[in-house]
Amino acid sequence: MIKVTKTYLPNKEKYQKYVDKIFESSWITNNGPLVKELEIRLAEYLGVKNIILVANGTVALEIAYRTLGLKGYVITTPFSFVATTSSLVTNGLHPIFADIDPRTLNMDTNKIEELITPNTSAIVPVHVFGNACEVEAIGEIAKKHDLKVVYDAAHAFDVKYKGVSILNYGDISTLSFHATKLFHTIEGGALIINDDSLVKKARYLINFGIESPMSIPELGTNAKMNEFEAAMGLCMLDEMEDISKKRKAVYERYEKELRGLVEIPAQNLHSTQNYGYFPVVLKNEEQTLALEQALNEKEIFPRRYFYPSLDTLKYIEPKQYSPVSRDISSRILVLPLYPELEEKDQMNIINIIKENSGI
Ligand SMILES: Cc1ncc(COP(=O)(O)O)c(C=O)c1O
Repeated sequence: MIKVTKTYLPNKEKYQKYVDKIFESSWITNNGPLVKELEIRLAEYLGVKNIILVANGTVALEIAYRTLGLKGYVITTPFSFVATTSSLVTNGLHPIFADIDPRTLNMDTNKIEELITPNTSAIVPVHVFGNACEVEAIGEIAKKHDLKVVYDAAHAFDVKYKGVSILNYGDISTLSFHATKLFHTIEGGALIINDDSLVKKARYLINFGIESPMSIPELGTNAKMNEFEAAMGLCMLDEMEDISKKRKAVYERYEKELRGLVEIPAQNLHSTQNYGYFPVVLKNEEQTLALEQALNEKEIFPRRYFYPSLDTLKYIEPKQYSPVSRDISSRILVLPLYPELEEKDQMNIINIIKENSGI
């Protein structure tokens, strides 16, 4: 069976050595030495100043909103994983959807300003499938209207924009290190905070709001990463070069074989690729479902990602309609892509697509 992704597991002996160390020290959570080491190594690897590791990418978003004190309405994208929007709603914020650009699948920056009201506090764009947003245009709009910007960069690990980390844009960027991501810590996530003065507050927020045994200045939660997760991250980091090389080969084979046959979203020309996902957009939903079924019959499981469009969620208030996002959601498939995907299996997938893409 071939699924859309397969969790990469690094060298077992190396992981075992970290586990032995954890057992020796009995320090398994609460900002332990491996979490601290991973924060230092990741900051250097990614080229960022302040990184805080947390329990997952969803809570990273929640902490970002609370660190910045967001209120009222937040402009975001309807084409993302549900956590981008549900994290807003669970924090008492109202998502207002700026529809997407059908070529890049990112938030259409021309649609943001018309949605801004005196009750808008922030913009939460997503670098969808690791494809960088138009960060300069978004930055200008935010500055003009005095809005905060939180980038959901769950897919954008190690993406560079004009030579620097994409994570350095906006007030805060968040990452997900879930097992399905190209870099993972089993479960996990991170905040990248560009304003040094906010770091302390975010650190309190991930640890129940506690500053010291005698002082609890913030209303916090428990968002801590544990030592076993950090150990996984340290092992993964040692293998990233090889992981990226293998992913690139798979990605480029799809691109070579499928370009012109199916629509491949346009890449931001100022940014690098991290080869995290290979989405294809079909002509219509009928063709998409037929292709999905043809692949499923051969035990191949692409994912309708992202589906459904988030403006269709029943808990969204006020009700909204994002036609471009709904259209793309109905006819997109993300193809299997992981380092160990064998060439013969990938060619099998490609051939099924060639037979079913309607050309
Ligand atoms: C765009 C996006 N945002 C947020 C998340 C949530 O991350 P996590 O699963 O680590 O909570 C995901 C997870 O897949 C995601 O794809």
